[in-house]
Amino acid sequence: MSDNYLRLGVNIDHVATVRNARGGAYPDPLRAAKLAEEAGADGITAHLREDRRHISDADIDGLMEVLSVPLNFEMAATDEMQKIALRHKPHAVCIVPEKREERTTEGGLEVAREENKLAHFIAPLRDVGCRVSIFIAADQRQIEAAHRIGAEVIELHTGAYCDACAEGRTEEAAQELESLRAMSSFAHSLGLEVHAGHGLTYDTVQPVAAFPEVKELNIGHFLIGESIFLGLDPAIKEMRRLMDEARA
Ligand code: PXP
Repeated sequence: MSDNYLRLGVNIDHVATVRNARGGAYPDPLRAAKLAEEAGADGITAHLREDRRHISDADIDGLMEVLSVPLNFEMAATDEMQKIALRHKPHAVCIVPEKREERTTEGGLEVAREENKLAHFIAPLRDVGCRVSIFIAADQRQIEAAHRIGAEVIELHTGAYCDACAEGRTEEAAQELESLRAMSSFAHSLGLEVHAGHGLTYDTVQPVAAFPEVKELNIGHFLIGESIFLGLDPAIKEMRRLMDEARA
């Protein structure tokens, strides 16, 4: 695989959201994950939230068993989640902030304020071989702190950029994009691997995909939504095509 290749991680949380709307087992996130793999996903991302509003513990057990591509396990920095991650040892663990009342992960993690605690928290995960990623805003202070605590990867929160695009705030969108560009480059210069995600769509993906320092995008809500209209396989393939085009 060339150095320039941009990986696509497909987040399947919202297949579980639809399932949980009715209880029961349908639609099955594991089936969606296998389909995503076949459509070209380079990894599967799942967020086990403390309130289990979408992905369940059994989903994580199942994903660990059935996946041929790496699992990126998103979780809050809690003892309960750390135990689960240490038991499964997924390929990657992405530490995200979590508030019960939020609809989705609204901002990046405050690493700079909690450096010591987070350094201790991620050390055992690294010891068992998980690649630890920290989900943060495009903010130099947070990137430096993520580097100091020993994270190998940062994932930059693209939500503010995507929201500005969706709401037609073009100047802000350009500013957010510029911050993402500058901070991708800064993080890369520290030796961190750079990922990005949150809120990305066909309309917003290409400018981010074009940053050469970004190695992986994690995309969920839009792809699961678009699969209602196109089917999951074509929805993912179109995202892949746009990413490749941006990268060419
Ligand atoms: N990356 C992280 C760290 C996330 O928390 C999420 C949302 O769960 C995503 C990427 C994907 O965001 P979206 O579902 O908006 O594409």
